[in-house]
Amino acid sequence: MPPLSNRYTQLVGIDHPIVQEGLGPFRTPKLAAAVSNAGGLGTVSMPGMPVDIDAGARTFREHIEECASLTDRPFAVNIPVGVDHEGNVLPFTDVYIKMVLAAREADSTLASRLTVMTTSAGFPGPYLQAIKDAGMIHQHKVGSTRQAVKSAEAGVDVVIAAGFEMGGHAPSKAVHTFVLVPSVTEAVDVPVLLTGGARDGRGLAAALAMGADGVAMGSRFIVSEENSDWHPNYIQALLDAQEGDDVAFNGVYGPCRGLRNAASEKILSGAVQAPDGSGDQPTEVELERWKIESMQLSQTEGDVDNGLVLAGQVSSALNDVISVAEFVPAMADEAAGILRDLAAKLQGATSVRT
Ligand SMILES: Cc1cc2nc3c(=O)[nH]c(=O)nc-3n(C[C@H](O)[C@H](O)[C@H](O)COP(=O)(O)O)c2cc1C
Repeated sequence: MPPLSNRYTQLVGIDHPIVQEGLGPFRTPKLAAAVSNAGGLGTVSMPGMPVDIDAGARTFREHIEECASLTDRPFAVNIPVGVDHEGNVLPFTDVYIKMVLAAREADSTLASRLTVMTTSAGFPGPYLQAIKDAGMIHQHKVGSTRQAVKSAEAGVDVVIAAGFEMGGHAPSKAVHTFVLVPSVTEAVDVPVLLTGGARDGRGLAAALAMGADGVAMGSRFIVSEENSDWHPNYIQALLDAQEGDDVAFNGVYGPCRGLRNAASEKILSGAVQAPDGSGDQPTEVELERWKIESMQLSQTEGDVDNGLVLAGQVSSALNDVISVAEFVPAMADEAAGILRDLAAKLQGATSVRT
């Protein structure tokens, strides 16, 4: 019997309330399958926003099919909702969400495994009904209590409360998990996952104590044996990171957290130049493309100085490469043990007093 079975694990059909959340624009089908096979929920990440979005959708679909071939357990996809200045949803989001729904409709085996759609960044309003009609569980990542309430009222099944210490794109309100999570769990009735800063059973126990139903991690799972698609230099960069080595810079959808290096310093100092060699400032589109290509430079080619290394603050506390298969159940056991010990200590203290 899994030690921390709860309404979230029952809703999603997993053993442990532990999620490997989206790690786009990077390849994660093997990692996602490993986390799902270990009893958690793995997530296939979106592959980026290439100029040819249909080619991006084909790559994404290959990743989804690879994951489905490696696990018969539930897994998720993560699709950020990009929005332009007028509030219109960007084409990549639309194409990717429709691709996922079509892929499931065409393949019932895939549909029985790819059961969770996680959205993030902008509000997923235009897609809520289609995701529900497809029978998928809809998780949405938010950075404020107001967004959590809006999402739950709109019918989202699970809210992921994202604290500012998280890796990758972080909430613009910059609220940290310890403040945000209790406010969100107080405000909504749907299951809540904490994301940002969790790394082991202590973080999971703390999340449960704050009223959350589980945790969604990014950085911890990057540093794992099963994350074999990523360049070893990326993994080593996270292992080498010390406290204070992370920084928030302007990403693609707002603030983004990664390691301090030549690439993030270039953004912070406004030194990125137009690609035509003129020395001019890049246009907004050119700057976004530079950022995405720079992210992929570190992840696929291992250039962790000139490429952006997205990572959470928790990287400074990651000192070992985990085996996902062993780690996920052990993390749940550790959290359950902590909660049991605390309850027993409280019981002891109470009986001494009475
Ligand atoms: C390398 C990297 C890429 C990420 N890409 C995405 C993404 O594509 N979509 C998304 O919603 N979150 C993304 N995130 C955020 C993670 O899903 C997760 O919420 C975050 O890593 C949690 O913080 P932690 O790193 O402290 O565990 C990314 C995080 C990292 C570290």
